[in-house]
Amino acid sequence: MESWAEKYRPQSLSDIIGNTKVINDLKSWAGSWGEKMVKKGVILSGPPGCGKTSAAIALANDMGWEVIELNASDARSGAVIEGTALRAGLFQTFGSEGLSDRNLILLDEADNLYERAQQSKNKVKNYSDRGGKRAISKTLEQTKQPVVITVNDLYNLTKGTGAKIKRLCLNLKFQRPSVVSISTVLQMICQKENLEIDNETIRAMAENVKGDLRGAINDLQSLSEGNKKIAHDDLEKVGSRDRETEMFETLNTIFHGNTFDEPRTAIFDLNEPPRDVATWVSDNIPIVYKNPSDIDRAYSKVAYADLLLARVIRNQNYGLWGYASELISSGVALSKMHPTSGRRPQFPSYIRKMGASRFQRGYRDSLAKKVGAATHQSIKESKMEQIGVIATICQNDNSKAAEIVGSLDLNENELAILLNTDKKNKNLISIMEESQQYRQEKEIVTLDYIPVIEEKDEDEPKRIVPKNDNKQKSLFEF
Ligand SMILES: Nc1ncnc2c1ncn2[C@@H]1O[C@H](COP(=O)(O)OP(=O)(O)OP(=O)(O)O)[C@@H](O)[C@H]1O
Ligand SMILES: [Mg+2]
Repeated sequence: MESWAEKYRPQSLSDIIGNTKVINDLKSWAGSWGEKMVKKGVILSGPPGCGKTSAAIALANDMGWEVIELNASDARSGAVIEGTALRAGLFQTFGSEGLSDRNLILLDEADNLYERAQQSKNKVKNYSDRGGKRAISKTLEQTKQPVVITVNDLYNLTKGTGAKIKRLCLNLKFQRPSVVSISTVLQMICQKENLEIDNETIRAMAENVKGDLRGAINDLQSLSEGNKKIAHDDLEKVGSRDRETEMFETLNTIFHGNTFDEPRTAIFDLNEPPRDVATWVSDNIPIVYKNPSDIDRAYSKVAYADLLLARVIRNQNYGLWGYASELISSGVALSKMHPTSGRRPQFPSYIRKMGASRFQRGYRDSLAKKVGAATHQSIKESKMEQIGVIATICQNDNSKAAEIVGSLDLNENELAILLNTDKKNKNLISIMEESQQYRQEKEIVTLDYIPVIEEKDEDEPKRIVPKNDNKQKSLFEF
């Protein structure tokens, strides 16, 4: 399914919310490119999800420029940066509409483009300093095309050999969009997606994300799955964004760590049950790792951890938690022998799917409960044994179905599961109508007398109050 953050990515600079001054500066930089141009590149820095990449793409759209993008998943070595970015900077390329006047060279998420260069300094595994920063400054010096660099941590990019990059570029800092701006975007999306949600809930969502607009849009999307109406109480389901951020930070430590200790400390500091972390980690292994043998090794660690976690539940042996956590964190980290893909970890699809199917699962449980109550079985047993049988009966015999539905007092959602159809199915509606005769009226107990509350007996035993004198009291006086 398409992510809404992508679907609603601003197409023009005028659609970018907030950061007006930065956007104007960006426009005038682009407008002056080639003539009285001062700097050949621009650095857009700022926190995640505030519109940096979007601004770069929107700028290219507005100017009619072709985008040549080099993002963290493509490459991180100096050679690749030179091969792609610098070459694109020196020559004109064919765009979708023939020869385009200009190419916008976009070095997206530059934090990650040179990441290995720094990690390799004191680590055994040396993916080598591949001269990422040097390649960027070389590109900036020689390019005949505009360059946009986006980065979260400006200081990290521009320290050391990166000082040159800073000198060669115009520096624009993005601020976190305000709660009001975020609310406006969320409201627009709700309207387009026909979602029912009140202003107060939108505001609460906007406050929760602390300026991460992408996060806000993701939250909205996950709450809307299988649900057209979002209430304030639903917000609890997305959990606090702090927790999610911490989870992402831990994942980064695990996937990019090369030591035993760091990932281990990160997972122990994170206040989440190991099973949840395992879900996040295992879902992201094939995204972040790209070498098949790395993926294989990492999965066998997670699989073993899963075994231990199952034993924790079965035997209540919480001592195994520690080992499982170590396998999930340091085990997965040290399974990596090759460079990673550089892609950022994602919110686990499994949790998303479970979120989307939570209504379905809810009805399945309530159905199993009603059937189990009639057959004197547990929910689990009735799910495994009875529901299949009853479903077959209901699918083949309408009058039997009506009898079952009536006597078990099933609702249309539960019947829909048995018939494997949806609530609007004609057959289902007729069975529901026919089932009315089998539904027992609920007994209403009425009292035909007024209960009298008995009055309290007055004759309570009197306390012995000790006399207030200075004599030593005997035990019996109390
Ligand atoms: N200022 C904004 N105006 C409108 N939409 C925005 C804005 N900022 C973010 N968005 C929405 O959030 C999504 C993510 O934004 P974007 O990719 O531009 O963030 P970013 O600043 O590049 O983040 P990162 O540092 O994580 O790469 C966009 O696709 C868009 O839907
Ligand atoms: Mg970005």
